[in-house]
Amino acid sequence: MAQAFPPEFGEAWNRRQVSDALLLAGTHYALITPGGIVGPGPHDDVAGFSLSRGLFDEEELLLFAIAPSWRRRGLGHALLALFIDDCRQRGKKRLFLEMRRNNSAGILYAAHGFRPIGIRPRYYRMSNGDRVDAITQELVID
Ligand SMILES: CC(C)(COP(=O)(O)OP(=O)(O)OC[C@H]1O[C@@H](n2cnc3c(N)ncnc32)[C@H](O)[C@@H]1OP(=O)(O)O)[C@@H](O)C(=O)NCCC(=O)NCCS
Repeated sequence: MAQAFPPEFGEAWNRRQVSDALLLAGTHYALITPGGIVGPGPHDDVAGFSLSRGLFDEEELLLFAIAPSWRRRGLGHALLALFIDDCRQRGKKRLFLEMRRNNSAGILYAAHGFRPIGIRPRYYRMSNGDRVDAITQELVID
């Protein structure tokens, strides 16, 4: 978490936020190893993670990250594909996420079928006080 989210964006959760989220019904997470093995773990080495929460037939991807030293090797693709497949198997029909405007993650999300459906103006507050829009993205599963 600490490595994955640049501090200036203030997107990282603290330990308490994560542990509280994991206690809530409907929270799901996955870890990915540098070798591309995906699952809840335990794993000796972790290169990235996802955390989501579902309600009825919808799921929101809350956190998604690959550690900087393991980026651009396809791990983001692999973890996102697993997330979508896992949601499909759990009967989810609509997946959502919020993304900082101009985050390069948008290219990855688009490649997996996510589409922008809304803007939350000035949603993120950066460490320098600037505000950045959030783009809400949706993937409808057939
Ligand atoms: C977004 C993130 C998860 C991508 O992880 P990754 O392991 O590098 O992803 P992949 O190697 O599978 O690449 C996926 C595709 O996304 C695009 N992409 C990823 N990072 C990119 C960048 N910095 N610039 C341009 N395109 C990028 C590319 O199309 C890439 O495919 P390619 O390498 O074949 O060109 C990672 O950069 C990350 O953790 N970022 C910080 C946390 C974050 O912003 N998470 C999303 C919150 S909404």
